[in-house]
Amino acid sequence: MSEQAIVTGRPVSISGTGSYLPEKVLTNHDLEKLVETSDDWITTRTGIKERRIAAEGECTSDMATKAALRALEQAGIEGADLNLIIVATITPDTLTPATACYVQRKLGAMKAVAFDVSAACSGFLYAMEIAHSCIATGAFDNALIIGAEKLSAFINWQDRNTCVLFGDGSGAAVMRASPNGHRRVLASHLGTDGEQTELLNIPGGGAACPITLDNVERRLATLAMQGREVFKHAVTAMRQAAELAIAKAGLTIADINLVIPHQANLRIIQAISERLGVTEDQVFVNLHRYGNTSAAAVAIALDEANRSGAIKENDRVLLIAFGAGLTWASAVIEW
Ligand code: COA
Repeated sequence: MSEQAIVTGRPVSISGTGSYLPEKVLTNHDLEKLVETSDDWITTRTGIKERRIAAEGECTSDMATKAALRALEQAGIEGADLNLIIVATITPDTLTPATACYVQRKLGAMKAVAFDVSAACSGFLYAMEIAHSCIATGAFDNALIIGAEKLSAFINWQDRNTCVLFGDGSGAAVMRASPNGHRRVLASHLGTDGEQTELLNIPGGGAACPITLDNVERRLATLAMQGREVFKHAVTAMRQAAELAIAKAGLTIADINLVIPHQANLRIIQAISERLGVTEDQVFVNLHRYGNTSAAAVAIALDEANRSGAIKENDRVLLIAFGAGLTWASAVIEW
């Protein structure tokens, strides 16, 4: 298990956010027609009511680009002015090149360095930390970070243990060196536990288990999960990550106005909120509408909280994520 601390340097801020959700809605009642499940089971066990599914031919880079354009517009900068593009995804358009390269082309951001980060549901906060470090040290002046997923392409639609949980979507943020210090990232924390790779993975399709007719038939290129184990790890790791980032920022939980957790399961969110000692109205939740969109989840929630006015000026916002790897991450931002 390895953990990491934030670098110091010049202040870095979030100068714009954006998100995109595909139009097609798949409700719990729709899923009742696909697998043996019920709206009641899904709602009580997860809190999810519906999720979005990408259109035919719509790929991760398309969704990433749409969220990015909204974030760029809010930040008031053009794609052509970007220095760095990081896409966090576990559902890339292609194994190579990186999805970020397609996004670079679609945005006309030809001066930017572009690459992907694979850290599952923690990916957006991993990207935030990398961008933060690159800008804080002076290596780059700005960065576009994106969490984007087309999980519907990697779901076994006959497996009720997983197919009810996930959805497609994207969220983005523009980060910049910030002389005035507004919307500043105060601290963050990342962690990884490679001892637990088997708890949540896509076993086939990589070099360890290349695509063959046989493993396609065995559905090895779809998401597999030991739900109950993942649940326990998620609660512990997200709580610890939250407490460490808050401490690094020199704050206590009483200083936090809004918590934006990874949107996987309402019961996980409630367990963490209880352990941290925050009330329900301090926690931003949208998973009932989108399900778990992995790397996109915190990014979408951050954008919705920003645009809906749930985040007020000078608020301290705590972001927390957890995912396959296992990975976890947190960040504190002063808005
Ligand atoms: N509909 C109906 N029944 C279902 C079902 C579904 N969609 N999925 C599973 N079940 C059944 C199981 O087969 C099991 O039946 P059994 O007791 O006869 O074997 C029963 O429901 C209970 O399963 P269990 O795994 O104990 O349920 P749970 O309360 O742990 O909830 C999850 C399952 C997946 C919702 C929960 O474990 C979870 O959310 N885990 C974390 C998932 C997650 O966040 N992953 C991503 C992290 S980034």
